Amino acid sequence: MKAEILALLRDRQDYVSGQELCRRFGVSRTAVWKAIGQLKKEGYHIQAVQNRGYLLEQEELFGQHELESRMDTEWAGHPVSWYETLGSTNLQAKLDAENGAENGALIVADMQTAGRGRRGRTWNSPPGTNLYFTLILKPQIAPDQASMLTPLMGLAVAEGIRETCGLQTGIKWPNDVVIDGRKVCGILAEMSVEREFIHYVVVGVGINVGLQSFPEQVADTAVCLQEKCGGKVSRAELLVNVLKAFERYYAVFRKTGDLSDLRQMYGNLLVSRDKEVRVLDPKGEYQGIARGINETGELLVEKEDGVVTAVYAGEVSVRGIYGYV
Ligand code: BTN
Repeated sequence: MKAEILALLRDRQDYVSGQELCRRFGVSRTAVWKAIGQLKKEGYHIQAVQNRGYLLEQEELFGQHELESRMDTEWAGHPVSWYETLGSTNLQAKLDAENGAENGALIVADMQTAGRGRRGRTWNSPPGTNLYFTLILKPQIAPDQASMLTPLMGLAVAEGIRETCGLQTGIKWPNDVVIDGRKVCGILAEMSVEREFIHYVVVGVGINVGLQSFPEQVADTAVCLQEKCGGKVSRAELLVNVLKAFERYYAVFRKTGDLSDLRQMYGNLLVSRDKEVRVLDPKGEYQGIARGINETGELLVEKEDGVVTAVYAGEVSVRGIYGYV
């Protein structure tokens, strides 16, 4: 009920009488009063004025009730579990998935003590400023289709950022979201498979939101949203917008089973499109022009002789000729 009271007070932006809250939720005045008391304890500023009711001073806290009260998605983010601190939301998501968590369950943390990045790297995860979340998926698809879920999330993050703070982002293949050549979001998907059956896929997302000083190793290549848009960005609003966009793109993906209806959109966001890239293939490096992705998400690179190769994300990394993108 606390999340529902919060949602109502937030939407109304005015006083809501105790009587109305009792009627809506079918509970006593004491129960409403207790729920308000608990929300206040969590840090919400709620004024209680005789004969008028309760007023929520507009501000955002980032926690379980805030997220529940905003989660108007269809399936992604239900249920949501918020933690103040976790080692890694991906790790927690895998544990939960093993223990029967449903498709769509979401793990969110305010900070991570062992945030994980791709290729065994760590993900800087200080408290109070960024988004770290992992979506649990139990899709009925073949294991070789699972690699397409990361570009889907990349598209969703780009869309969520545009909706929340109006910023145009790009994608550095396969799934870094960037602004002006600097990384604002990383995605790490992990899956559990047995023969041809996917037990689960967890898609972990880290978005740099608030102002912060980045560790030396990434200081030149990382950026946060607030630096680019000036004002404060609501982490909860951003999270919900990303999940809503993911639901839309996921539905498109499920229709065809691949990225054929999304590859053009992805290509439009691809920062290296029509630019020279270096493919760091363990079997031999080469250069070429990035032309977009194919329907399974592989990067199409046109070599000097005009031959186009499809580069699979698992094997190689791709760099711009002059730096990170
Ligand atoms: C990358 O290296 O670009 C991927 C970074 C992914 C970071 C996110 S933060 C939430 C989730 N939990 C983790 O431990 N990692 C992912």
